[in-house]
Amino acid sequence: MKLFNQDLPRGSSMSYAGLLERLEILRSTLRWANSLDRPDIEKLLRQANAVRDEVMQLSHKERFIQALGSEPAPQPEQTQGDRRQALLARSFVFEGTFGDNARLLDALEIAEKAAPTDLPVLIDGESGTGKELMAKVIHANGTRADKAYISVNCGAIPESLIESELFGHKRGAFTGAATDRKGKFESAHKGTIFLDEIGELPLQGQVKLLRVLQSHEIQRVGSDETIAVDARIVAATNKNLRKLIELGQFREDLFYRLSVIHVTLPPLRERKDEIPLLLAYYGDEAAEVLKRRPVAMTSGLRAFLLDYTYPGNIRELRNLVYRLACLAGDTADIAHLPEDIRPTAAPLRAQDASDGQPAASSTPPASLAEVKRAASDEAERACLERGLKDVGGTVAELARRWDMNRSHLQILLKKHGLHSKDFRRH
Ligand SMILES: Nc1ncnc2c1ncn2[C@@H]1O[C@H](COP(=O)(O)OP(=O)(O)O)[C@@H](O)[C@H]1O
Ligand SMILES: [Mg+2]
Repeated sequence: MKLFNQDLPRGSSMSYAGLLERLEILRSTLRWANSLDRPDIEKLLRQANAVRDEVMQLSHKERFIQALGSEPAPQPEQTQGDRRQALLARSFVFEGTFGDNARLLDALEIAEKAAPTDLPVLIDGESGTGKELMAKVIHANGTRADKAYISVNCGAIPESLIESELFGHKRGAFTGAATDRKGKFESAHKGTIFLDEIGELPLQGQVKLLRVLQSHEIQRVGSDETIAVDARIVAATNKNLRKLIELGQFREDLFYRLSVIHVTLPPLRERKDEIPLLLAYYGDEAAEVLKRRPVAMTSGLRAFLLDYTYPGNIRELRNLVYRLACLAGDTADIAHLPEDIRPTAAPLRAQDASDGQPAASSTPPASLAEVKRAASDEAERACLERGLKDVGGTVAELARRWDMNRSHLQILLKKHGLHSKDFRRH
């Protein structure tokens, strides 16, 4: 009987190929053996368990990326553009994800392979790195794409309500449970459930979630009845779950169950090559949303934005671009940045967007762009004053006439210190 002799070494890192080989040996042993006596069976079971443990350990991210990436491996000569094209050619749905950064493409390629399976996926990364977007990508590329996608933010629900939110409740289960109610898992039946901020799930909820993962059944709070649910689980966290495990705040068995596929999204400061593309994209988007011409940037501002560390990642970049598109005239500069991130030594602070007052005339203009901006601001203010006069101070009417977003108009008025009531006709 051909059994592999040494038990698998514990804690060693085994390659995906090595594991497959062990499984293959186990399989062929079973297939070809005429008879198995008890010691052989026991040995086989031990080895099968050892392989199973090793598979669990493989969910550690680097090894999984290596494992999933090994077939077919991206060719070394394949450029990032090629990799993206290849995804496109395979009809991959990007859901608006863009960027050619190698680490982002790694994540997308893992998502592509994971999507058609029902394996749980754990996505980690700092806030604003695109975890929720990635969950949608996985849903959109899978066989459940036309079924429900249900998102639950485990960090946003009070601890006392989380179980009822996830699993539903029976009427009278607790004070306030006036009717039977189905939970998010039942709503996600046949589809995908996205468990955001899974690290915030209290331990008791973790136990229940583990049970669902094992049995594919739920029980509504206060009910004994079990209900079968078939929901694909994608979870996300901006916490280090391994640390939480060490602190006793997250169950290790749940971690392994959730992270069969583990995708890590790098922070934006580690993929700075994406910044120009993101600036251009969100610049156009903001112009469209705010119904204005795209804003140009001074070279100082551009240099700042290309090098800034973006603790809030892509979400912060997007919000910054919208802010600039809203506050600036034709050209945005450093002065339009929020004060808390604005470089203090910048000479361009001679003019501050927050009060909209032109610099004292004794201050020499910092650049041609500055002069242009001042002129543009002046024209903007005059135009707003005339507009308000024409409509008797009714902002909604002016927004309609100019085909502009009302809140944008309000912000512009604030920027220039204009009060609509001063233009009311008495
Ligand atoms: N690669 C990307 N391409 C385009 N937009 C992105 C990308 N990654 C994230 N975003 C955008 O950034 C914002 C934050 O993404 P989100 O998925 O909510 O992040 P997280 O869940 O990690 O906090 C969203 O507006 C999302 O559309
Ligand atoms: Mg999020």
